[in-house]
Amino acid sequence: MIDEYRFRSVLSRFASGVTVVTARGGDGVDHGITVSAFCSLSLEPPLILVCIDHAAVMHGILESAAAFTVNVLAADQEDLARRFSDPDNDRFEGTSYTRGANGLALLTGTAAQLECALTHRFEGGDHTIFVGRVEAADASDAQPLLYHRGGYASLGP
Ligand SMILES: Cc1cc2nc3c(=O)[nH]c(=O)nc-3n(C[C@H](O)[C@H](O)[C@H](O)COP(=O)(O)O)c2cc1C
Repeated sequence: MIDEYRFRSVLSRFASGVTVVTARGGDGVDHGITVSAFCSLSLEPPLILVCIDHAAVMHGILESAAAFTVNVLAADQEDLARRFSDPDNDRFEGTSYTRGANGLALLTGTAAQLECALTHRFEGGDHTIFVGRVEAADASDAQPLLYHRGGYASLGP
């Protein structure tokens, strides 16, 4: 068996983008979480997936939610990546956002946004794979924020 430190270290060599996934609980309160485990899945129908830790508050929300939104962060939004992964922050306080057709938070200034209907849930160890059918999507020319070897980065010039 590979030990956890080595596994994390090896995985960290895979550079990814950074997203903030937003959804609303049954109480109607907005929630958002920094997620790098985002992936395209299917073109027809248009599907994407996100992997969420069983221990995350967001996991409980997505167990019964009908929709979620993926906000792909821009290179100048490292502060949002930190804010939406910090358990002690009031994450939407001072964060600029609008609402999409599904009523969920669309963060301002992102590189891309995907509004999804939650269609499937698959168990994967200590995470759940949540699959979304993309109902609306938009993109800007902003450079993306990257995550690599435990640190934030951006594309070179
Ligand atoms: C760069 C980065 C990427 C992350 N990616 C994920 C991820 O893909 N899935 C996940 O469940 N947590 C991920 N996290 C951790 C969550 O953002 C963090 O545990 C958060 O506090 C959980 O919020 P919640 O418990 O309020 O839902 C990531 C954190 C960072 C900083």
